[in-house]
Amino acid sequence: MTNNISELANSFRPVAPPRIIEGAYSDDQHRRLLNVVRKHGPWQLILAENFKTPEEVFATTSGKIPEGVKLTWDMILNPVFRGYLARQGVCYYPELEDCYYNSQFLEMVRGYWGAKYAEPETFLFNIQGPTPIGGPPHLDGTVFRGMTMENTPLWLLLTMAKSCLFRRWQAKKGQVIAWYYKGKIGGGFNCWPDGPKGAPLQINGPMWGRAVVVENERMFHHGQAAGPVSMRKPTGLDISSKFEADPDTSDGWRISTFGKVNQRIPAEEMRFLVHWGARLYTDFNDLKTSLDHTDDITHEQALNMLIDDMRSRGVKFETPTDPLRDNAFVRLVAQVYDIGGPTNIPADAVDNSIAA
Ligand SMILES: [Fe+2]
Repeated sequence: MTNNISELANSFRPVAPPRIIEGAYSDDQHRRLLNVVRKHGPWQLILAENFKTPEEVFATTSGKIPEGVKLTWDMILNPVFRGYLARQGVCYYPELEDCYYNSQFLEMVRGYWGAKYAEPETFLFNIQGPTPIGGPPHLDGTVFRGMTMENTPLWLLLTMAKSCLFRRWQAKKGQVIAWYYKGKIGGGFNCWPDGPKGAPLQINGPMWGRAVVVENERMFHHGQAAGPVSMRKPTGLDISSKFEADPDTSDGWRISTFGKVNQRIPAEEMRFLVHWGARLYTDFNDLKTSLDHTDDITHEQALNMLIDDMRSRGVKFETPTDPLRDNAFVRLVAQVYDIGGPTNIPADAVDNSIAA
C-alpha cells in the first residue's frame, strides 16, 4: 500500500548501489575538458537556466517569502555555474569526443543497469569556487516515452516521477559523475542509496577523478558545501553573474557581474564536476519500443492516471477542464505528491575540520 505519501519517498532507491571508481578521465582527457572550459567561457549560473526572478526560485523551493522582505539575488544565489559539452548525439567540441562517446562509461552503465544497450545523452559540467551546501537533497528530472521536456511542463514530469505510477514509461538513465577538487574543506557528494530514511553515503573530497556510477533520477543527492566559509557567499552576485578563467593567472578563475569582478578563485579552491549521462535499454525489444514509439504515454492518459490516483488517496477536487493550465490543479498536484526527502543531512565541513 502506498496510500501514505511518505511511503512513496521510501521507494526512491537507485537500480543498484552507487559504484565508486577512480581515474574517470585520463590526465589528457581532464586537461582537454578543462581547456574547453577555460577557452569557451564565461559560463552562467545553474539557476539562470530556469529562473528570471528571486521570487520564482522561492516559489519552487521553500515557498514562503518572509513578510516585508524585498528579495534580492545575493540572498539566495548559490554560486554554482554550468556549461554543456554535448546534447543527445552531438558532442559540441570535437576534442572531447572520446570523453563523450566513451566505451568505458557505456560499459559501466550497462553493467550497472544490467542492460544490453546504452547511448550517451547528456554531457555537462558544474564549476564553482567556495559555496554553501547545494540546496536540499533532490532527484534529477526525468522523462517518459512520449512525454519529455519538449512537449511537457517540468512540474508534470517531476510529479509523474514522484508518483511512481509511470515507471513503465520512465527513461532508464545512468550517470558517471566525476569530481576534480583539491580543496580541503568539504566539496564532496552526499547521496541516499538506501532511500531517504537510510544512512547517507558521503563521497568526500579532496577528489581528483573520483567518480560514481549512479541513477540520480531515483536517488536523493546533493553537493556538499565547499571551501573556506568566509568565501562561500561572494557579495554582489546577480542572476547574470558569470564564471570564467581569470586572464591574469594561468590556472585561476573569477566570478564577475556587470563587468566587475566579485571574486577570484585560485585553482586549489575550484570544484569541477563532470556529469556524463546515458539512456539505457534493457534489450532489443525495449530499444524498439522506444524508437518506434509503440508504447508512448499521452498527456491525457497521464493526467487521468494522476487524477484517479489522487481520488483513490481520498483527495477531494473537481475534475479540471484544462489541467495543464489550471493553476489550482497544478498547486494541488504539487501538494499531494510532495514526497519530502532525507532529513538526516550530514553537517557541513567548516574550516577547522582541516585540523582533524
Ligand atoms: Fe542533481
